[in-house]
Amino acid sequence: MSTEHIVTEIRDRILTIRLNRADKKNAISGAMYKAMTEALIAGNANPEVRVVLFTGTDGCFCSGNDLVDFLNSPGDAGGRIVANFMHAVVDTGKPIVAAVTGPSIGVGTTVLLHCDLVYAAENARFQMPFVNIGICPEFASSLLMPVIMGHPRAAELLLLGEAFTAAKAREYGLVNAVLPEADVEAHARAQALKLAAQPPNAMRTAKSLLKRWTREQVKDVIGVEVNHFVPMLTQPEAREALNAFMEKRKPDFSAFN
Ligand code: COA
Repeated sequence: MSTEHIVTEIRDRILTIRLNRADKKNAISGAMYKAMTEALIAGNANPEVRVVLFTGTDGCFCSGNDLVDFLNSPGDAGGRIVANFMHAVVDTGKPIVAAVTGPSIGVGTTVLLHCDLVYAAENARFQMPFVNIGICPEFASSLLMPVIMGHPRAAELLLLGEAFTAAKAREYGLVNAVLPEADVEAHARAQALKLAAQPPNAMRTAKSLLKRWTREQVKDVIGVEVNHFVPMLTQPEAREALNAFMEKRKPDFSAFN
C-alpha cells in the first residue's frame, strides 16, 4: 500500500516513518494506517533496520484519526485497519523514537505510549479527546495511561480530554525531553543513531524484557477497546460530535442521557 501521505526512508539503520499530509494536519486515513503497518512489519524483519523514528511535517505531528473516515466509514476507520497498525507497533521489537511538534491529537498521542523515546517541541500540543467526541480511549491507553502516570492524571487527560502542553506531558511522564521546535527532529535522530549503534541483539532483548510485563495485556486491551469504540462511532453522541467538526461548530450534547 503506497500513499504520498506516508514517507518512509531507511538511512543509517534508522527507518523513518513520516506523516506527510500537512493540509489535513497529518490526520491519518485508512491508506496511511496500511502504509505504516506495512513499513513497520517490513522494518521489523529487515536486519538493516535497527531503530524506527516516527515524525511529522513542519509544526505538526498528527491530528489523529481522519474524522471524515470516522463519519463515513466507521467500521473500517475504527476497526481492523487501525487495529492492525496498533498491533504492528506493539510487535515491533526494535526501539521506536518519536519527534513531536505542534498538534499531537488522539492516536497522535496514544501512539507515543508505545514508543521508547519521545522528544517534543515546546509548541507540541497533546490531546486525547475521545470522550469529547462520543467515543472511548484506544490503543491500550485505558491500560497504559494509569500505569505511566497514575489514575488521577490519566483520568484528567482522558475524561476531560483537554489539550495539554509539552511541559505537562513531560511532567506526567509521556515524553523524555522538551526542546525548541527547530531542534526536535535532529535531537530525536541523534538519539536514534545512538540506539542504532548499540549491539542489536542486546537492544532487542532489553526492549522485549521491558515490554514483557504489559505486552500481552496491551494486545488484549486494544481488542477490548475496539469492541467499544467501533459501535460508539455510529451512536448519536459521536454523530453529533463528528457532524459538528464538519460544520465547524461546537457539539451540543445537552439532549443526550
Ligand atoms: N480529520 C480530518 N481532517 C482534519 C483533522 C482530522 N482529525 N484535523 C484537521 N483536519 C482538517 C480540517 O478539517 C481542515 O480542513 P479544511 O482546510 O479542508 O477545512 C484542515 O485539516 C486544517 O485544520 P484546521 O482545524 O483548520 O487547523 P487548526 O490549525 O485551526 O487546528 C487542529 C488544528 C489539529 C487543532 C484541529 O484541526 C483539530 O482539533 N482537529 C481535530 C482533532 C481531533 O479531534 N482528532 C481526532 C481525535 S480522536
